[in-house]
Formats: sequence, structure tokens, C-alpha cells
Amino acid sequence: MKKRPLESIYIHIPFCKEKCHYCAFVSYANRKSFFDDYIDALVCEIIKNLKKYKDVNVKTIYIGGGTPSLPDAKYYEKIFNTINKFIDIAAHAEITIEINPGTVHFAYLKELKSIGFNRLSVGVQSFDQRILDYINRKHNIKDVYNSIVNARQVGFENISIDLIYGLPYQTMEIWQESLQGALGLDINHISTYGLKIEEGTRFYKQHPEELPLEEVNAQMYLECKDFLMQSGFNHYEISNFAKSGFESKHNLSYWHNKEYFGFGAAAHGYVNKIRYSNQVSLEDYIKNPLKKEFCEELSNADIIKEAIILGLRTSDGLNLDEFKADYDFDLIKHYKTVINKYIDYKLLILENDYLKLSPEGFLLSNNVLSEFL
Ligand SMILES: C[S@@+](CC[C@H](N)C(=O)[O-])C[C@H]1O[C@@H](n2cnc3c(N)ncnc32)[C@H](O)[C@@H]1O
Ligand code: SF4
Repeated sequence: MKKRPLESIYIHIPFCKEKCHYCAFVSYANRKSFFDDYIDALVCEIIKNLKKYKDVNVKTIYIGGGTPSLPDAKYYEKIFNTINKFIDIAAHAEITIEINPGTVHFAYLKELKSIGFNRLSVGVQSFDQRILDYINRKHNIKDVYNSIVNARQVGFENISIDLIYGLPYQTMEIWQESLQGALGLDINHISTYGLKIEEGTRFYKQHPEELPLEEVNAQMYLECKDFLMQSGFNHYEISNFAKSGFESKHNLSYWHNKEYFGFGAAAHGYVNKIRYSNQVSLEDYIKNPLKKEFCEELSNADIIKEAIILGLRTSDGLNLDEFKADYDFDLIKHYKTVINKYIDYKLLILENDYLKLSPEGFLLSNNVLSEFL
């Protein structure tokens, strides 16, 4: 089995103004007083790790959250200075930060650009103000337009937005308006997620009103796919659409099962065949940023299973020859029964040496992928 390349860094910023009612990501509201200590702990974790990996050439960095656009830009300057001391960031590396429309103004975006960020992922979620209020987003539609216009003015050309379908009170018509709204922003990447009611969220405790039916959610997904594809976007992964050349390199590196560093509270990483996650509590992470919450060395069988599950999420699917060369594993031979079954059901396609999900397979991806586990 070939060694998996290590080319990406994920950094978690676990702060938000308030919690959105659907969100189970690790993020804490009203913790501004922790920013300094948190960034110091992050810098410590980065130094201790990167000094062992001096020959790494980083091709993608992703600062996610939480709301990374809450802390001042100076913190990110400190982080990049630290990274640059130890390893090389490739000349055309993709460097993304997630921003919330309500938190960014022109000068802040300008600072982000000058520090080195070249891609923005904007949490828009919906273009319907009533829905935004109901799910407790802290921004309005005007903030969305302003943030995109400002981002473009300061020179960001690579901009993505997140949308959610299946939200309370969302009809097909409202969803179509969100898709139109997204198109009107003239951006080059859109991620669309079906609402999940996650444990630990407000919506889990207090079930939301007026949720669309399951079959309407499926129609929303199909409508979105057709609409965005007709509008010049490639559907390159279950939840992701991009104009040619603007596919997220960072996310593709996950789906291609490459290794990556994960820094920050609750961050996940995958280095030297070891999958790990950091401590979730802010206080614990700040006290000891090197301690792991979870750590597991993957066997070759685990690595192969993950490569299948991740690779099948992409619209290209898995190239059988490459898979054999990378993992010394004959996919068709080992999973003959499962593969034939789903080809018969028209959920998998085997074509030109690629195994991939069909459009119907994308809709039922959880069922299909779980059979490879
Ligand atoms: C980690 S969040 C960070 C984005 C940023 N904090 C924001 O909300 O603007 C990434 C994306 O996951 C999606 N998401 C989070 N929780 C979800 C849920 N329960 N169901 C569906 N999508 C969800 C949202 O679209 C969100 O923008
Ligand atoms: S969706 Fe984004 S802004 Fe909302 S609570 Fe989660 S991480 Fe924070």
C-alpha cells in the first residue's frame, strides 16, 4: 500500500456569537475572553507537531468552525507566521476561511486577503428571513450581499456558500428562491446540506415546526442538482457543486483519503495512519493542547474501507486501476456481491474503469456506502 500524502491542515475555531438551533458542531457562544489563550494553545500545538514534519509541502489550509470570522485577523497572522517557520506552504495553496455574513466588514476582509487567505466559505443557509430567524442565524439577507460584494472588492475570486434544504417552513418554492439567490451572487462553489436533527441541538430538544416531508427533501435535492448543473456547476460530490476549476481542493483531499493535520479543540486529524481527535472542552484544550480525546491506528483493511466510502462520495467515483495501485486491492473481486447487487438496482455504475454512484445512488448513498463497511 502506498503511503498517503500529507498535504493539508485543518484548524478549528470553536467560537460563535450564538448557537444556531440545528448545529451540533463543537462551538461555544460568548467566549471572547478565551480568544488569546486559545490561539496561544493552537500555536503551541502547531509548533510541537510541525517541527517533526519539516519536509511537508502544504497544499491546502482550511480554517473552519465555529465562526472563524469572529476573532481578529491578527490571530490568523500569528498562526500563519508559526506555520511558515516550520513547513512550506505551496505557492498556489488553497487557503480557506469560513465566514458568517453578520461578522465581516470590508476592512476585516481586506486583512484576511492580505494575510494570505484566497478562498471564502460563507454560511448563508437560506435566503428567507423568516427561516433565518427561526433557525437562529445572526445575519440577514442584506449582510449576505454586502459580504460577497465586499469580498469581491478586496480581491477574493474563490467564494463558496453553504445552503441547507429541508429547513422548517421551507417549501419547494422557498428553496428555489434560495437557489436563485445563490446564483445571483455569481459565486463559483455551492455546498448544499439536507437538514439533520442532531443530538444536543435546540431542534433535538424542541422538535421544529413545519418540517418538509422526506419525499419533499429528496425533491429539493434533485431540483438543486438539476438547477445548478443547468447553471454551469459541476456536481462533483454528494453535497458539493463547483464551476470548473473551483472544486474545493481541501475537501477533495479528504475524499481522496489523503492524510491531514487537524489542530484546535475537537479537531480531527489523520497522520501516519493514525486518526485522532483533540479534546472538546475549551478549558481542557487550552491546558493541554497536545492531549488527544481519541486516537486509533488504522489497519490496512480500515484504510481501504475509508478510501471506498470517501471516494464513492465524489461524482468521479473510484478508478479501479488507481485503487489497485494505491492499495494493492482488487475492489471488484472483493466486493463482487455488493457491487453487482447495486449495479442491478441501478444505484452503482461501472463505466470506463470507474465505479461510481448513479444519480439515484447519491440519494440513497448512506444505504449503499454502509454495505462496504
Ligand atoms: C461547521 S458549519 C460552519 C459554518 C459557519 N459557522 C456558519 O454557520 O456560517 C458548516 C456547515 O454545515 C452545515 N450544517 C451544520 N449543521 C447542520 C445540520 N444539522 N444539518 C444540515 N447542515 C448543517 C451548515 O450549512 C454550515 O454552514
Ligand atoms: S452553524 Fe455555524 S454559526 Fe451556527 S452554531 Fe454552528 S458553527 Fe456556529
